Amino acid sequence: MDTLNKDDSGSDQTPKMPEHVAIIMDGNGRWAKQKGKLRTFGHKAGVESVRASVRFARTHKITALTLFAFSSENWKRPQDEVSVLMKLFKLVLTSEVKKLHANGVRLKVVGDLSPFDPKLVQKIKDAEALTQHNTELHLNIAANYGGRWDIVNAAQSLAQQVASGKLNPEDINETSFNANTAFADLPALDLLIRTGGEKRISNFLLWQCAYSEFYFTDTLWPDFNENSFLDAVISFNERQRRFGKISEQVI
Ligand code: FPP
Repeated sequence: MDTLNKDDSGSDQTPKMPEHVAIIMDGNGRWAKQKGKLRTFGHKAGVESVRASVRFARTHKITALTLFAFSSENWKRPQDEVSVLMKLFKLVLTSEVKKLHANGVRLKVVGDLSPFDPKLVQKIKDAEALTQHNTELHLNIAANYGGRWDIVNAAQSLAQQVASGKLNPEDINETSFNANTAFADLPALDLLIRTGGEKRISNFLLWQCAYSEFYFTDTLWPDFNENSFLDAVISFNERQRRFGKISEQVI
């Protein structure tokens, strides 16, 4: 991959890395179907793409990687599929956490964990406790997460602080609101990637994506690898982020 950092003249073309990347991992079912297999075969294959993405983020010193593993709407899927996904989360947590910890990765699972099996929740809590002081990469798995859920939670938390006299309503602003969202301790979301060809956010990081760049690829999630991640970063580098200013002001 190093060779990709140099152009023909030998000058350094190292792409600037986004600080915080989020991925909507879509296309597992279609990938499996194309191979004449069950949809769950695609989810299992998708785990290798999760590993590749974490590897890429670590190697390139991306600060935070947030993966959409299970949306609040995914409960509506056939019971068999939901059950395989839950087993897969448990399996991955068991098999990967030590390695993540050894590599300095802080793991957080973000979302409403109340409907999950208590054994799975305990595994999540243990993994978070073990890795909480790591700083190499902040890996967030969004599970039973929804962008609207996150915004409603923040509003409720602020309302409670006002009701208990800890906060003045006039002090509710973008900064204090953000501080009450699920990803408050992370850098702003720079890049949102969606695999699988669809071009929508599907109730993912609604508050956080206000000034993010979007990268949509037809690549199905199990085919997404480190080179695919690099393509997304190269595309990110081609964008001019103006944050409301005009082009001349940001050059
Ligand atoms: C979307 O593809 C994918 C999911 C709902 C599950 C994602 C889960 C994994 C990649 C495996 C485990 C991950 C972790 C972090 C442990 P889809 O099923 O909607 O695909 P389709 O659009 O082709 O039907």
